[in-house]
Amino acid sequence: MSTLEKLKQAEKYLKEKISRKPKVGLILGSGLGVLADEISEAIVIPYQDIPGFPTSTVAGHKGQLVFGNLEGTEVVAMQGRFHYYEGYSMELVTMPVRLMKSIGVESVIVTNAAGGVNEAFKPGDLMLIQDHINMFGTNPLIGPNDEEVGVRFPDMSKAYTPELFEIGKEVSNELRIPVKEGVYVGNTGPTYETPAEIRMLRTLGGDAVGMSTVPEVIVARHSGLKVLGISCISNMAAGILDQPLTHEEVMETTERVKSQFLSFVKEIVKRL
Ligand code: HPA
Repeated sequence: MSTLEKLKQAEKYLKEKISRKPKVGLILGSGLGVLADEISEAIVIPYQDIPGFPTSTVAGHKGQLVFGNLEGTEVVAMQGRFHYYEGYSMELVTMPVRLMKSIGVESVIVTNAAGGVNEAFKPGDLMLIQDHINMFGTNPLIGPNDEEVGVRFPDMSKAYTPELFEIGKEVSNELRIPVKEGVYVGNTGPTYETPAEIRMLRTLGGDAVGMSTVPEVIVARHSGLKVLGISCISNMAAGILDQPLTHEEVMETTERVKSQFLSFVKEIVKRL
């Protein structure tokens, strides 16, 4: 079955099963899935129940869609995303974004845990994503283009919607939650980077590095969704501190800052 057919199946299933009309889509990264637990009147749909949907495999990623209300806004959250390094095609990695668009979502908040490349960052910092660098070596829009979805050559000069970025800054000031700003570099993983790669990424203008987000944001922009990106700096990138990088550190840091992260995102959602 083609990815488009899978998408249609998933869309049909969700439309039959759910009458809610989410306006905001939340893609929750490693350790950040707790936000979905704050959703009221929640309807939970495990990925394995959705025809055509891949199932998520990483520890710390649950694998379900959660529909409901967050701070007065109708939302749908992906608790667990699909990563390219798991072996899924770019089309499958980004299928949930297309699905969100097809059920009426207008804006997506894409979150991730990322390594700090900028040496002024500390583990536990939150970063509003200003822009990204695609280092995946591929692009989810490669292949025939469906003109009904979007243009062949999408403009990426404002990939992260400036008005949403401004809302993020306002919330940061009002709630007194310090938030950094910067450029997210997306790599395939699953290895963490070498120290030489991190020096290169810093020279290229990267502030944070991770293994997700870029494909989803490309597809979101292609289909006309507004985008807000938030990284949780879960560790300093390779070679900055003299210590090995581990998934445990990533999970520990996201756990430590989760209450700040939750307050920050909930207040943003209230304003969308
Ligand atoms: N590198 C790549 N991906 C990551 C990192 C990192 O240091 N931390 C969390 N995700």
